[in-house]
Amino acid sequence: MPDLQENVISNHSTTSGGLELTVVIPVFNEVDNVERMVAALDAALLDIKWEAVFVDDDSPDGTANKITDVAKVDPRVRLIHRVGRRGLSSAAIEGMMSSTAEYVAVIDGDLQHDERILPEMLQSVREGADIAIGTRYVEGGSTGDWDETRERISRFATWVSHKMTRVELNDPMSGFFLLGRETFLLVVHDLSGLGFKILLDILTTAKPALKIAEVPYTFREREEGESKLDTSAAWDFSMLLIDKNIGKLIPVRFVSFAFVGGLGVFVHFLALTAMFQMVGKSFLWAQTTAMITSMVFNYWLNNLLTYRDRRRTGMRWITGLISFVVICSLGGAANVGVANFLYGEQTHWVLSALAGILVGAVWNYAATSLYTWRN
Ligand code: GDD
Ligand code: MN
Repeated sequence: MPDLQENVISNHSTTSGGLELTVVIPVFNEVDNVERMVAALDAALLDIKWEAVFVDDDSPDGTANKITDVAKVDPRVRLIHRVGRRGLSSAAIEGMMSSTAEYVAVIDGDLQHDERILPEMLQSVREGADIAIGTRYVEGGSTGDWDETRERISRFATWVSHKMTRVELNDPMSGFFLLGRETFLLVVHDLSGLGFKILLDILTTAKPALKIAEVPYTFREREEGESKLDTSAAWDFSMLLIDKNIGKLIPVRFVSFAFVGGLGVFVHFLALTAMFQMVGKSFLWAQTTAMITSMVFNYWLNNLLTYRDRRRTGMRWITGLISFVVICSLGGAANVGVANFLYGEQTHWVLSALAGILVGAVWNYAATSLYTWRN
């Protein structure tokens, strides 16, 4: 009988080792960039055993089909096709988790990051850095033809993240980096996975701090498709920073929900003033309209920001609104009930009111996250 174990070992030793590098490419509506991307990697990674893992969030433009076609003729190409989820950070995380290679890299799928520096990034991690970052701001790097506003926003975000994370970096907004898979596994459990700043997430999570190597490159113009990181990217960014600072105490979604609720009070008073003072409706009528207005406003904004990854659209927007209104009405009743009870127990009226608001807000948050925006 053949010795099974010996067989396995000898088989293993005859193959020339495993994969060196998994290149993770999050994509959303990048159908015209898939082939270009694979060709670019092919040209850049000459002496490296690599694979490309595209992570597609069910793009309506047929990106996943295109990747499948390419993978049929190129076994180095893999696809992770996600449904019901969106998000650059979580796509990058899942791509890296699917790797068995020694090193993992993340790169944009629109050829704006220069893949030709990947060998240098790999080299610097092999030589002792924990993570190599493709960076636009060191000498030799450039932002290409960015317009002034974008440059300013980027510089501001860089400054804020310096202040809040204390990580010294030239380009903390970069989404282009490479690290050992083992290094990634050390931090992955504590990542927040929110929004699109996966690099910042990794750097602020790692304890002790990672040894960084920055590799400069020129950010290229996008030739095909369009950018997905709209204005709510700024919101995502703030949420990530909040999560990294107080996320252990208060869930960041609750912070967002409460913030929207605060704006809702403001909207309520706007509507009330308009109806009561300006249009001259009765107080009851004005207060009722104002309440409805602020509820719809809260639903709308939470759907856009707080739950942007589970956003409801079309018919589901309407049904979501109904469940939101029902739940928040119960929350309102709990608010008044608790406040009234405490007030009856000789609690100061301000404290009673605040306690009522807190109970109502927590209820609204918990119940709408379970029903209105359930995962
Ligand atoms: N799977 C998935 N899901 N991929 C996504 C999603 C998503 O929800 N949103 C965007 N992507 C993909 C895009 O298809 C693209 O390959 C890459 O992520 C970057 O998206 P862009 O929309 O091209 O981003 P950008 O050019 O504005 O942002 C660049 O600058 C940022 C710094 O300001 C990127 O380099 C970012 O990585 C970088 O953080
Ligand atoms: Mn881009």
